[in-house]
Amino acid sequence: MKSKFTAFLIFALLFQGLLAQQRTAEILQNNWKFIKGDPSGAKEISANTSDWENVSIPHDWAVEEDFIKDGDGDTGKLPWKGQAWYRRDLDLSAIKKGNKVFLMFDAVMAFPKVYINGELAGQWDYGYNSFYLDITDKLDYSENAKNVLAVHVDTRKHDSRWYPGAGIYRKVSLISMAPIHTKIWGTQVTTPIIKPNYADVRISSLVKNETSEAKEITVTQHILNPEGNEVSNKSISHDLRAGEENYFEVNAQLIDPMRWDIEHPHLYKAITEVSVDEKIIDVSETTFGIRSIEFTPDDGFQLNGRRVQLKGVNLHHGHGPLGAAFYPRAMERQLEIMKSMGVNAIRSSHNTAAPEVLELCDKMGILMFNEVFDKYDRKADIVDTTNFESFAERNIRNFVMRDRNHPSVFIWSVGNEMHDVQANYNNGFKRLHTMLNYVRKYDHTRPVTMVNDVLDNAALRHFDFYDVHSWNYGRRYRLARQMEPNKSVIISESASTVSTRGFYEFPLPKKKTDFTKSLQVSSYDFHAPDWAEIGDDDFMWQQDEPYIAGEFVWTGFDYLGEPTPYTNKNVKAMGMSDKEAARSSYFGIVDIVGIPKDRYYLYKSYWKPEEKTIHILPHWNWKGKEGENVPVFVYTNGDCAELFINGESQGKQCKSPSSKNSTERFRLMWKDVVYQPGEVKVVAYKQGEKLGEKTIKTTSEATKIKLSADRKTIKANGMDLSYVLVEAFDKNGNLDPLANQSLQIEVSGAGELAGAGNGDPQSFEPLQDHKVDLFYGKAMIILKSGMEAGSIKLKVSSKDLKGETIKIETEK
Ligand code: GAL
Repeated sequence: MKSKFTAFLIFALLFQGLLAQQRTAEILQNNWKFIKGDPSGAKEISANTSDWENVSIPHDWAVEEDFIKDGDGDTGKLPWKGQAWYRRDLDLSAIKKGNKVFLMFDAVMAFPKVYINGELAGQWDYGYNSFYLDITDKLDYSENAKNVLAVHVDTRKHDSRWYPGAGIYRKVSLISMAPIHTKIWGTQVTTPIIKPNYADVRISSLVKNETSEAKEITVTQHILNPEGNEVSNKSISHDLRAGEENYFEVNAQLIDPMRWDIEHPHLYKAITEVSVDEKIIDVSETTFGIRSIEFTPDDGFQLNGRRVQLKGVNLHHGHGPLGAAFYPRAMERQLEIMKSMGVNAIRSSHNTAAPEVLELCDKMGILMFNEVFDKYDRKADIVDTTNFESFAERNIRNFVMRDRNHPSVFIWSVGNEMHDVQANYNNGFKRLHTMLNYVRKYDHTRPVTMVNDVLDNAALRHFDFYDVHSWNYGRRYRLARQMEPNKSVIISESASTVSTRGFYEFPLPKKKTDFTKSLQVSSYDFHAPDWAEIGDDDFMWQQDEPYIAGEFVWTGFDYLGEPTPYTNKNVKAMGMSDKEAARSSYFGIVDIVGIPKDRYYLYKSYWKPEEKTIHILPHWNWKGKEGENVPVFVYTNGDCAELFINGESQGKQCKSPSSKNSTERFRLMWKDVVYQPGEVKVVAYKQGEKLGEKTIKTTSEATKIKLSADRKTIKANGMDLSYVLVEAFDKNGNLDPLANQSLQIEVSGAGELAGAGNGDPQSFEPLQDHKVDLFYGKAMIILKSGMEAGSIKLKVSSKDLKGETIKIETEK
């Protein structure tokens, strides 16, 4: 009863607030016009856009194009370099005249120049960061006036080590608020004291008076608990002169607060009301969590007072066939897949993420290693190295202010593998100090780090400037840790194991770098580039060195670009041409469309020991290899297993927890199995008890297609996605692990095709065409809802297989 009453009160209060205040936010998703190139007059109100394309935001202009076969594999072989224009009319009818009006860009790749009614309203450089512009003075409120937003985007000066995307690839919002308001990102919630039975919550809001007279201003902070009930309500008043801004801070003590944790991500809300003359004129909302974080020298990372080993993955910003275009559902799905494997943390390698990523981490109980820059060099979006101070100031300010209230963020990183900074040339340490100071200026509650890769430079003691040792690969953290044992260690990049889903080569490699001319990487999980290792090594090092707070695997998902080992340079060194270089990575634990590789089960078996995993590799279709040796591996959370081929035991294997050969600790391997078609069966045991069994069979050739959607009902908002897995089955209903037929895709009704792919880093089929090839039996089709409710019909057919149709409902 109480809670209903409180909910009503809050509703009444908000309603009154909404009536009285003028804060509005409109996401500018539809009705954009787009053109590539730089037609003259594109920014003018009168520009003729009749031959421009209609697009919606998010938009990545390059990902829908054909691959450039002999192009640069490192950046995905897609035509992302160039310039383009976006235009749209702004509708001011919901905005009160006299209000302040802002445009918020979550990120634009790259160097956007923003024009309103032909005049430059502002610009940005760094293609991954959020920025906002005050456009109030540029707007025309006269009757029948048109207000035109035009954005020029230019990636020509940008460079990258992966596929960066191109265009307005994250959302744009038109925001308005009263002239006296809490500034955008102006509220900061901290919890200076957290005790077992209470917490102090400090809410500070930066309020600005943009009227022409001094005012007495009251700020009231309402705190709602995770159930939506008001648990505190405090006000404070100050005078603000015309044009002045200042902090309004209140402290609230909450009894028995619910902690935000990876197990139970409880979220509180602060509602900030600004009033003048007892009238509420501005209301804004901040989500926060109550949790304690601490890095200890010898006992890793502690969340709410207990040790949590970081089971993390690195995620680049791209979403496979969707390119860089950011759809919240694509991200949510990435996180769901990673969580299902046992992930409790992600690193936003190597740039500021979309704001929704942080919201999802908060909601899903995932810790976030939040990083702002990659190597500060010509490959990292930074052209003006002479003006470092202002570049760092602006970009770190936006990065930290935007993200500092998210409980999921447990550490800030000022950058990845900045070579000159690590080595202290070009004033490296001075620049490091500058970056760290800007982070600490806007948030003093979290540790800060820098991610390193050059082992010897630890001798220069750059770690004296920051809080936690973060090192990539090869146990390089050891020297820094030895020199400064009072700091914990994060393996910020582990593994970099490479493999292709569904592809196996034997005999097993002698060395991790034994790559063949097949242009695919064997999925026995023994391969890594020379600087890297296999996942089992990192598990072992963490077991043996408990001060290590955890790891972030490179990478959770495959991504466009960086196709090590089949980069242009490497294939040429192998005597092949640029055409043979791949277009996407082999590093992922799951492929580029989210289908698990074998490694997924290796991680799951170790990271989620409470869940049953029994996974057999390879498949059992080895026609022509009868009588030859085909190694069989099992990834399981059990400790032993017995393997049977056609009913005949191949012996029992057990993990060796103290072996110095890491694979013997974490996998079960029968290296001398003789192939004969039929059945492979595994019976797994845990602590002497039978855990379960698993069987795979030799199949016949596929005869039909099977479609399964991850979600059969989605929202009719032009943004929601359904991922439809396509599999090829034989006449007995078994997956044909070799099927590679071409498929035709037809989509009709209340949605459209958003993309399709199959996890083959060597596929040059366009990513948003109505066709896709099966790759080792599987492919993925991504459907996007329209704005109207209805059903989307997807028909997948093939010359050689019986097709299938599936319906996805979309609802308002
Ligand atoms: C690291 C780098 C990553 C990625 C990775 C591949 O050194 O930080 O961005 O390139 O290597 O192994």
